[in-house]
Amino acid sequence: MSIPFVSRVIWQGKKSAYGLMPVWISVVGIMMTGLLAGCATNETGPAYRIAFSQCTGGDLWRQTMLSDMKRALSFHPDCSLLYEDANNSTEKQIAQIRSLARQNIDLLIVSPNESAPITKAIDDVFRQGIPVIVIDRRINSASYNAFIGGDNVEIGRLAARFIGNYLKGKGRLIEVTGLTGSSPAQDRHQGFTEVMRQFPAIKTIATFDGHWEKDSARLLAQRQLPAFQSADIVFAHNDVMALGMYAVCRRNGLANRLPFVGIDALPGPTGGMQLVSDGILKATFLYPTGGEEAIETAIRILEGKSVQRENVLNSVQVDAGNVKALKTQSDKLLTQQRDIERQSQRIAELTRTYLTQRNTLSIMLASLIGAILLGAWAFYLVRSKQRAYQILARQNDEISEQRDKIDLVSQQARLATEEKLRFYSYISHEFNTPLSLILTPTEDMLSKKSVGMAELKNNLSLVQKNAHRLLRLVDQMLDLRKTDSGKLVLRASEQNVVRFIQDIVNDFKHKAERHRIDLQFIAESPVVMLWFDHEKLDKVLFNLLSNAFKYTPRGGLIHVLLDVKENTVRIQVQDNGEGMTTEEQAKAFDLFYTNTRQFNLGNGLGLALSREFITLHQGEISVVSAKGQGTTFTIRLPLGNSHLDASAIVDTSAPEFLLRKSPSAETTLPDPDQPLAGNRAKSSTILVVEDNDELRDYLTRQLGDEFDIIAAGTAEEGWQRAIDAVPDLIISDIMLPGIDGLTFTQRIKKDFRTSTIPVILLTAKGQIDAQIAGTRAGADAYITKPFVLTFLRETIRTTLTNREKWQQRYTTDYLTKAENRQEKKFLHELTLLIEQNLADPGFGVERLSREMGISRVQLYRKVQGLLQKNVNEYITEIKLRKAKILLTESTKTVAEVAYETGFSSPANFTTFFKQQTGRTPSDYRKSPTGQS
Ligand code: FRU
Repeated sequence: MSIPFVSRVIWQGKKSAYGLMPVWISVVGIMMTGLLAGCATNETGPAYRIAFSQCTGGDLWRQTMLSDMKRALSFHPDCSLLYEDANNSTEKQIAQIRSLARQNIDLLIVSPNESAPITKAIDDVFRQGIPVIVIDRRINSASYNAFIGGDNVEIGRLAARFIGNYLKGKGRLIEVTGLTGSSPAQDRHQGFTEVMRQFPAIKTIATFDGHWEKDSARLLAQRQLPAFQSADIVFAHNDVMALGMYAVCRRNGLANRLPFVGIDALPGPTGGMQLVSDGILKATFLYPTGGEEAIETAIRILEGKSVQRENVLNSVQVDAGNVKALKTQSDKLLTQQRDIERQSQRIAELTRTYLTQRNTLSIMLASLIGAILLGAWAFYLVRSKQRAYQILARQNDEISEQRDKIDLVSQQARLATEEKLRFYSYISHEFNTPLSLILTPTEDMLSKKSVGMAELKNNLSLVQKNAHRLLRLVDQMLDLRKTDSGKLVLRASEQNVVRFIQDIVNDFKHKAERHRIDLQFIAESPVVMLWFDHEKLDKVLFNLLSNAFKYTPRGGLIHVLLDVKENTVRIQVQDNGEGMTTEEQAKAFDLFYTNTRQFNLGNGLGLALSREFITLHQGEISVVSAKGQGTTFTIRLPLGNSHLDASAIVDTSAPEFLLRKSPSAETTLPDPDQPLAGNRAKSSTILVVEDNDELRDYLTRQLGDEFDIIAAGTAEEGWQRAIDAVPDLIISDIMLPGIDGLTFTQRIKKDFRTSTIPVILLTAKGQIDAQIAGTRAGADAYITKPFVLTFLRETIRTTLTNREKWQQRYTTDYLTKAENRQEKKFLHELTLLIEQNLADPGFGVERLSREMGISRVQLYRKVQGLLQKNVNEYITEIKLRKAKILLTESTKTVAEVAYETGFSSPANFTTFFKQQTGRTPSDYRKSPTGQS
């Protein structure tokens, strides 16, 4: 049976191989390593290395001893056995003992060849702290933890007693001892000799040293044969020596006569028991090997348990009387021992299988743990990456946010720039209008040979008024600059604000009367003393009132209210004018804000400045307005002067007066809506659409001598006038409140009732893009402000002449002959409708009357009355006229002309044409005058 050798391993924590891995993974790795190490060690406890130094392994008894040891060891798989055989050599055994002691053994078992020479080596081992068990043969010192072996003195005695009795006290004896240097030989001899003394008639004829060996004994018997021939019995110290000598004696015919006695009584076919049973030996004595006991004792020592130091094993005599029973027993024991060995082998195999499986499982477990660790590591990496991505995404978002902010700021900057550019454009416009009103009358007067006194005065008054307006603009610009640079300072004095406002309101009285506006100032008390900068408050109120007048229609109301509430003076300027949208209100005080209405100093720059001025007073200005219902501006100014800086307070005694031209000083102009009296023979009617009152009045007055003038302040009003009166020409500004001049022009040109009316756009905008837009809208001419009146007059005349020519060519000349404007308008609309639907064969009196909005009867009656012909005749006339023009002035085929003039086939057209002219269309085309 093989004894497992399991080295004692002290597992130590290994250095982490995971380098950069987090500490926890390293810890788990170490745990895993530990687990694997744990799998490799024995679970029952520490492993022991037991060394066994055997004096010889060559004989059966020693082999039995080793088997006994191995069997005992099979119950201690944690122990390993290091075995050395000295082959009966004392020197060799000494060397082996010393060598074993160096091999990290836990315990040494020694069966010494000879006692004295080996004692020293064992002493040394024992002194090293290695436990020592001496087995079978003794040493000469006490350097051992336990001795295990048979009682050799007693065995010697037993043998002597047997022989004494066998020889019946008389005879000749040969004693063959074991190696004389070994303790069993000495003890057996001692016990034997001791008892033999009781048999004085038994004489020991020879004592030989048989060295415990069969061959040595055989040689000895051969050499000493005569002694054996004379002997009556031979006592050998062991069975093998007895057997060796028996063989020699048998060969020499002595076997039957000479009895042999041995020691050991080993079981088995070659053992002493069998020799007794076979009659070769007369008796033998059981000499137990002590192998099992040695291992059990060793384990106890190694486990730190107490052991008995001297362990003497009992012996028993085996002879013919008990050999059978003992042999049966020992055979049974042998069988059982073999069973045990087989089972031990089986267990060992199973243990190996178990260990293999356990190792496999351990490897799998380790792999699993490894995979989990790698998974965890991968997960950790992924998470780290995700975190990194998240940080990146956050940074990206921040960058995007910043980029958006930059975009927003740049957009705001761009918008601000655009607003500024619009503002400059507007400012130019604002300057252009008064400049026009200065330059135009001046040039007009200069171009005339003589100018009447009244006209001169009117014109000069206009020039003066507009010069003042320019001054005011410049003044506002300078104020604005001061606001921008923070140089605007307050110069407040204490005055009666009621009186102050009353003066300003009075200035607007005339204007109010002229426009039939109910202007009132209502104060809750006649005297309210307030600290204010009269120059600035004057500008604010003048601006608010100008605005109110601008957007309040004829017959409207403008009320200025003043009351005092909670130490605050509240001034309100209310009107019931056109009002503002919510967006317009929100941006009313913004400097560069421009809404759908045109920019206006009155409510753009003016309101922005007003807010600056009121803020300087630590006051507030706000607006409440509803589209179509009116507007209320509210100013709140705190009473007293504690809220003002000392530097803002000036001398209170003498208020400064503002050099401002009263609005009542405006030149009184005739009602622009009415044509000037005394110009009866005017052939054409002109509609002037201009929001600037003065310019409109000026044009009305100047052009009124030559044309009938209809005036409108807005495009909406202009449209109504155009529909009602069907003027011969329209002059319109591009920049108009509400619908602008371009949209107005488009509308005029799209509607069949007005599409033929020429439009001259008159504006301060000199930019090429505005001119392109004007042309695109359908404008016939474009004149930039400031303009020369003569040039405008000429443009009007040329445009009218061209239109007349066109009318004569394309329509009947009845239009020009119509007596009044109503008749003219009716014929104009009728003709246009027919012309526009000429190509449609289904178009006739039915549709015509419907589109004109009158009944068929009315239509017949009206056409008959005006043209002395019925409607169908008039349609035919227009068709023919159109056909003639197309035939002579276009390259269209006769068929194309036929379809374009509403005929279902060219043949019908030819028949019709021939009926009307007496000629075919082709002939007419060749010679319109009929000459060949
Ligand atoms: C075996 C042996 C035995 C004997 C013993 C004494 O080697 O010779 O026969 O009893 O040793 O040590």
